[in-house]
Amino acid sequence: MYENASAPAPSPWRLSVAPMLDWTDRHCRFFHRLITRHTRLYTEMVTTGALIHGDQHRHLDFNAEEHPVALQLGGSEPDDLAACARFAQQRGYDEVNLNCGCPSERVQRGAFGACLMAEPALVRDGVKAMNDALGGALPVTVKHRIGIDRIEAYGFVRDFVGTVAEGGCTVFIVHARNAWLQGLSPKENREIPPLRYDLVAQLKREFPQLTIAINGGLATDVQIAEQLDPAGAALDGVMVGREAYHNPAVMAGWDARFFGDGTRLDADDDWRLAIEQQMVAYMARQQAERGTPWAHIARHMLGLWNGRPGARRWRQVWSDHRLKGEPAAEVARQALHARTA
Ligand SMILES: Cc1cc2nc3c(=O)[nH]c(=O)nc-3n(C[C@H](O)[C@H](O)[C@H](O)COP(=O)(O)O)c2cc1C
Repeated sequence: MYENASAPAPSPWRLSVAPMLDWTDRHCRFFHRLITRHTRLYTEMVTTGALIHGDQHRHLDFNAEEHPVALQLGGSEPDDLAACARFAQQRGYDEVNLNCGCPSERVQRGAFGACLMAEPALVRDGVKAMNDALGGALPVTVKHRIGIDRIEAYGFVRDFVGTVAEGGCTVFIVHARNAWLQGLSPKENREIPPLRYDLVAQLKREFPQLTIAINGGLATDVQIAEQLDPAGAALDGVMVGREAYHNPAVMAGWDARFFGDGTRLDADDDWRLAIEQQMVAYMARQQAERGTPWAHIARHMLGLWNGRPGARRWRQVWSDHRLKGEPAAEVARQALHARTA
């Protein structure tokens, strides 16, 4: 894919790492950015209530290196969404994304997340309020499922997308399975409802003018390429979640393969070590500037050496809380020793 230098520039949504609560915080995104320069990164979901009433620095601060980075909002009240979209703009985010896919009970009590798929007009109004507030400065996008509960008909997601597009949303990221709002935990809701990629391809055929990215169970380069292939599903983008987090090396070839940007990271181990060293320097900086313990950062990179000799021993050192009083450089020294012993 994208091997032809004269081809048009790839969609900004061509590849992205999914928003993941508790996982894709600023440290995780900094780490992912070291592995891939072009992939779009998403924050964890932040509720409008937390932004309006809570600690904005905690929720919104990010590293300049993270661009392009999108803020994902959880909320449904158009005025609140508009206010939060403005915060995102002021802070320099590249996109505001609305979560219409999270099925957790806490989120349902707040009447947002996946249950918003039953209220497309409200989502349209929220999107419009955000677009009005931003005046086109940032794209407003929506991440959603293909259905809720036992609604399997394509018409449901088609009507949702059609209505929300009326609010000025032109980018939809579709997690290609239903959310079952009762009886499943959020984790089960990422595993049990069946994946139906064909519905997402159908959306793209029906709305060729919209940017449609697909999410759910996609990880390998071959799987990604299949979704982007103009002769196949011809989707505009692929969003990868769990695999990118657990096995970050999957991202190492993305810039070259999907963005035509050299062959920065090759198959040998040097790139892993270089990134680990950059992370150690980052940990030292975060400790000095913000008092952040290295363990808060290191937890996101525990998959870095997966599949390589000594990975388990390396991981054990970086997750050893007895070392929490040591500087990150010393932990790195011990981890290297353990890995190569
Ligand atoms: C730990 C975890 C937290 C998640 N938090 C969010 C979230 O905050 N917002 C959201 O839209 N999706 C969230 N998701 C769902 C992912 O964004 C993604 O849609 C899902 O994991 C399917 O993609 P995958 O199969 O590539 O992992 C979360 C997933 C995981 C594993």
